[in-house]
Amino acid sequence: MEARKFIVGGNWKANGSPESVKTLVKELNDGELTTKDVEVVCAPPFLYLAEVKDSLRKEYKVAAQNLWDKDPGAWTGEIPAQLLADMGIEWVVLGHSERRENCGETSQIVAEKTKFAVDKGFSTLTCIGEKLDAREGGKTFEVLDEQLKPLAEVLSEADWESVVLAYEPVWAIGTGKVATPEQAEETHAYIRKWLAENVSEKVSESVRIQYGGSVNDKNAAELGQQPNIDGFLVGGASLKGSSFTTIINSAG
Ligand code: G3P
Repeated sequence: MEARKFIVGGNWKANGSPESVKTLVKELNDGELTTKDVEVVCAPPFLYLAEVKDSLRKEYKVAAQNLWDKDPGAWTGEIPAQLLADMGIEWVVLGHSERRENCGETSQIVAEKTKFAVDKGFSTLTCIGEKLDAREGGKTFEVLDEQLKPLAEVLSEADWESVVLAYEPVWAIGTGKVATPEQAEETHAYIRKWLAENVSEKVSESVRIQYGGSVNDKNAAELGQQPNIDGFLVGGASLKGSSFTTIINSAG
């Protein structure tokens, strides 16, 4: 089994202006990469996808932050996978906790979107993670079971080759309360064990699991040394080119 390539995602969320996007892309393009061993995926808001895809350094991939899992047509306000594919977008973030919370995206919907995206040729950063009450109540693994089960039901073993899981404890997102390396490693190991028991050993060993939730240029190195942490999905710190570049280099 070949080693899992480290993957760092930058989720820009609903942030940016014509000027700030140009500044961030320049910072990223000017950043000095000290490693070639890390895959990088940046996820700007839909409005800036075309510009970022055209102007961002070519070794960095570009992701949408969501997609509509229907073919193009009468879906006012939605962005079908095909329209993204037609503009050369190959990655998509799915099931982010903010969409689960604010847009009613259930684990079933997230699984269906993941399957649709994979069938359309996308690679996905599919997000899972528990809220604070589940963590404090010792229910973390129950929540992950509920979020993983629908994925296992719809994805074939081959489909999993296009899926990266992003474990993002909701209580760590945007709070500065990053999970300790021990907490993150324990949970990533659980996810990998769950995959071995419910999908296959092969998928368990090969699927990359990112950690997300207050990752920054100070804590990334220690987190990245954990055996079951294969990458990061970074929010706030991805909006500053120098910090994001430091996070990438820390993993190499
Ligand atoms: O998708 C990544 C995001 O949820 C993490 O946000 O700001 O805690 O790095 P942040």
